[in-house]
Amino acid sequence: MKINNICCIGAGYVGGPTMSVIALKCPDVKVTVVDLNEDRIAAWNDNNLDNLPIYEPGLADIVGEARGRNLFFSTEVDKAIDEADMIFISVNTPTKTYGVGKGMAADLKYIELCARQIARVATTDKIVVEKSTLPVRTAEALQNILHNTGNGVRFDILSNPEFLAEGTAIQDLIDADRVLIGREDTAGGKMAAKALVEIYEQWLPEERILQTNVWSSELSKLTANAFLAQRVSSINAMSELCEVTGADVREVARAIGADSRIGSKFLKASVGFGGSCFQKDILNLVYIAKTYGLSEVANYWEQVIIMNDYQKRRFAEKIVKTLFNTVSGKKIALLGWAFKKDTNDTRESAAIYVADYLINEQAEIVVYDPKVSKQQILADLDALNSRSEEENRSLVTVVSNPLRACDDAHAVSIMTEWDEFVNYDWEHIYENMQKPAFIFDGRGLFENDYLKAIGFESYTVGKGSD
Ligand code: UDX
Ligand code: UDX
Repeated sequence: MKINNICCIGAGYVGGPTMSVIALKCPDVKVTVVDLNEDRIAAWNDNNLDNLPIYEPGLADIVGEARGRNLFFSTEVDKAIDEADMIFISVNTPTKTYGVGKGMAADLKYIELCARQIARVATTDKIVVEKSTLPVRTAEALQNILHNTGNGVRFDILSNPEFLAEGTAIQDLIDADRVLIGREDTAGGKMAAKALVEIYEQWLPEERILQTNVWSSELSKLTANAFLAQRVSSINAMSELCEVTGADVREVARAIGADSRIGSKFLKASVGFGGSCFQKDILNLVYIAKTYGLSEVANYWEQVIIMNDYQKRRFAEKIVKTLFNTVSGKKIALLGWAFKKDTNDTRESAAIYVADYLINEQAEIVVYDPKVSKQQILADLDALNSRSEEENRSLVTVVSNPLRACDDAHAVSIMTEWDEFVNYDWEHIYENMQKPAFIFDGRGLFENDYLKAIGFESYTVGKGSD
């Protein structure tokens, strides 16, 4: 079956870039990305490509090339579903905030709404592709809804989890290590998988396209994120040990990363991992394990989250302790708010929690991030419900000039590893700060000697004193 028309429900960090690359690489396939959020769709359609809702290196060029040719962004969900041969579901699946599984299980209400909408609207056969990260066996629920409420049309369900990381999404899509397709082991399932393979084969070699059963595919996505997050928590656990023993976690990471069995990636000690996936997916995994009565499995993975929460708190505590046990009334500049560089996404960013801790200690926080808006930063703090919105606005200032953020500050704290931070005139920054001038390098960006030579009192995550 040749796919001519694709619809993707959800124009977010996953749906937007993924569909842009499919449209770029398959110029004869019409790709329509739909979303309930009108502002988001308007931003995707903005003539000025700087206003796209998502910042992702390389994305604007691709949208510029494909949009209006075979890539469309729209709020007309029913129409796009009706016209499509293949429908990707790419809506968000946040952690439940109510009821059974609160704080752990994935909230599947948007997924279910999508399934019901597809079932209601579809008048021709469809291949439905789960792109969102879902608990294992979600396809079963989708199948139930589609088959029992549909208009008698045929639905084949595939699982095709997304492995792109934000900040490198375009590269990850264009040169994917692998694409995973989970399908039923039936003639229909194989046919549907073949249609999706033909899309990816437009730019990826056949051997990178893996097929498994649906449950393996769903579980592989959670497993991949759990393993990656575990590496970060493992190196972060070592970072504290390095600090007390005089070791340097960057040297330890280099030493162990050279072992080909371990590998060098994901060994950067940090203020703690953030992002929309790691915490959510591990909590989900823990919840699934608990549901099956596997408490040892659940506890094992939960420790990755516990370690991460500890790392964020430990960093904030370090700032307070170093500033003579009080930050009350002191100006602290936070450089970076995004959960990693090269993205404007702030979901679960460590910066939010560190800022919250410092505000509770009555610090005056000034934030600079090259890609995150003031509105977003304040919204992230408001969402914690730690204090009133007015208080957040009186205690937090967001500036668009990094030097202004640091002027007169008692301390500068590096929260995100943006490349530009390394190139600032740190001597100039030092001159304009209160003395002693403290710097807390939460990303291991600087060689300690460099900052010390300028005059800073510096702390780097995972670096013990000699
Ligand atoms: C993705 C994945 O889909 C999620 O499963 C994964 O675990 C995290 O990343 P992401 O693209 O980052 O989600 O989410 P988001 O940027 O919030 O985009 C989802 C979009 O779906 C939003 O724009 C939202 O408006 C839209 N949506 C949601 C709908 O159009 N319909 C709905 O019913 C619900
Ligand atoms: C992750 C997965 O990598 C991706 O495959 C999946 O599809 C979605 O979840 P993402 O959340 O975009 O991607 O970012 P990632 O690069 O994995 O980083 C997650 C967090 O871990 C960031 O806060 C990052 O700063 C932190 N991290 C990563 C470290 O602290 N140290 C590292 O060595 C690597």
